[in-house]
Amino acid sequence: MFRTKTCGELRLANVGETVTLSGWVQRTRKMGGMTFADLRDRYGITQLVFDESKDSVLCERANRMGREWVIQVIGEVSERQSKNKNLPTGDVEIIVRELNVLNEAQTPPFTIEEQSDGGDDLRMKYRYLDLRRPNVRKNLELRHKFAFEVRRYLDEQGFMEIETPVLVNSTPEGARDFVVPSRMNPGQFYALPQSPQTLKQLLMVAGMDRYFQIVKCFRDEDLRADRQPEFTQIDCEMSFVEQEDILQTFEGMSRHLFKTILGINIPTLPRMTWADAMKYYGSDKPDTRFDMKFVELMDVLKGTGEFSVFNEAEYIGGICCEGQAVYTRKQLDQLTDFVRRPQIGAKGLVYARVGEDGSVKSSVDKFYSPEVLENLKKAMNAKPGDLILIISGPDTLKARKQLCELRLEMGSRMGLRPKDKFSCLWVIDFPMYEWSDEEQRLMAMHHPFTSPKPEDIPLLDTDPASVRANAYDMVINGVEVGGGSIRIHDAKLQQKIFEILGFTPEQAQQKFGFLMNAFKYGAPPHGGLAYGLDRFVSLFAGLDSIRDCIAFPKNNSGRDVMLDAPGVIDQIQLDELQLQINLKN
Ligand code: AMO
Repeated sequence: MFRTKTCGELRLANVGETVTLSGWVQRTRKMGGMTFADLRDRYGITQLVFDESKDSVLCERANRMGREWVIQVIGEVSERQSKNKNLPTGDVEIIVRELNVLNEAQTPPFTIEEQSDGGDDLRMKYRYLDLRRPNVRKNLELRHKFAFEVRRYLDEQGFMEIETPVLVNSTPEGARDFVVPSRMNPGQFYALPQSPQTLKQLLMVAGMDRYFQIVKCFRDEDLRADRQPEFTQIDCEMSFVEQEDILQTFEGMSRHLFKTILGINIPTLPRMTWADAMKYYGSDKPDTRFDMKFVELMDVLKGTGEFSVFNEAEYIGGICCEGQAVYTRKQLDQLTDFVRRPQIGAKGLVYARVGEDGSVKSSVDKFYSPEVLENLKKAMNAKPGDLILIISGPDTLKARKQLCELRLEMGSRMGLRPKDKFSCLWVIDFPMYEWSDEEQRLMAMHHPFTSPKPEDIPLLDTDPASVRANAYDMVINGVEVGGGSIRIHDAKLQQKIFEILGFTPEQAQQKFGFLMNAFKYGAPPHGGLAYGLDRFVSLFAGLDSIRDCIAFPKNNSGRDVMLDAPGVIDQIQLDELQLQINLKN
């Protein structure tokens, strides 16, 4: 038997017991005739004591142990003289009687402790060592518990987990596909699923009226802190439901997760239309942990003074930052530089401070009468001591996005975005389409299988850009954790949507014939959604990047630096696939 106890479970109640422990040596310290070692396993750390006066040979062997050696010890649990309050096992130690070295280890390239001295790249290369660190391990434990509770809840609700294939066909309209060449079909490629969207719809046609799957999805997109090329979805679909049924069911799942994992009771999720989210927060995933809503100032500032920037603007909007009139000129210049950064792209920033006497001092004072500035204060509902920040621009959508970045920045600076506070909501009534400058055409905002709101169907012929969809996202703390829609189950309507997206009937048949044909055989009304598991878990764990809750993530260039993937393949493999590499540049 390698162990009778684990390194995390020993307490004062165990004093006097003889135990066998196995684990890794975190560090050793020699103090006079005593040698102390911290022994670590998945469950925690226990202090080992080797006493030279009792067994000098044993102590000598302990002194030779290096960091990360794998050892087994037998000894007696004893109360510690100097207790360690930071460790759950800090009241006890093991007086070691027997030491077995199970495996020696090279000195690790970084310290494997809560706070490591290893940089990101190094820790990714030796991820299996990084995972020994308790804080990294805890994220995986949380992820396991999360997935377990998802399964428990959905099973109780009658959902069935069904696996769908990983080698599928390429889907137009989404992100870029990862593709896999087929040896048996030379020159042809599978695509890895960006999501099992069409397959789950086919499962509905097949009568599996409540489906879910915790499933890997693959998208070849530019990476960010909340994006990985392979990530995990909690993918769900239901038949004979309306939007309300889906929102209720999955609000229930979120409530269950918050309760069982964090012990938090979340209130009923507010619902915000996409149009309001854009108007008040400049984002379809507003961070509602704090208020600071946008106020449109076109009536107040356009044409009421000599400031040409505002007079030419299509949008002028402001936020009121409570108590921030103390901002110095230097701090305001920094904020201006912030909004001017190329990623944000604003031309400038206008500010107004409300003094303790209620007077308004603004960077555009000279262009406006005191009445206009007073109107501004009123419109912004600003109080003495508040700071008003204003962004304008020739394009409403762009200006709102810039103001959104500024709002988030101020929220962070003002400490209004703590990681242990959660604010969840549904964003509903998304538009069906968005204009793509790149493609110069309308694209599906969610995906091409999303149904329009019945009352907006007539607009499909006259003004498709204004058609709203039965689509919804769940947003927590400014992160889109999930999204879905009621689907089209009528082959004719689906055909029409494909036409608006620019597919000829032949192209639609070629790409989506399998789905449209299936719909001819009795498709039930259906809808669903998918959560991003990595994002949801990261929020629960308070992480900055989803990488930290993934055992073996990719870096920002999409590389697995530990496996050194992607890599070149052997000529034999290329020959089998009948492929030749001819890189263009
Ligand atoms: P969507 O594309 O919105 O919808 O994806 C659903 C959720 O998956 C997460 N997500 C990601 N997480 C990490 N890395 C990525 N690259 C990434 N891309 C998406 C997000 C997102 O909300 N088939 C539809 C769902 C449906 O309609 O049922 C779909 O995939 O949290």
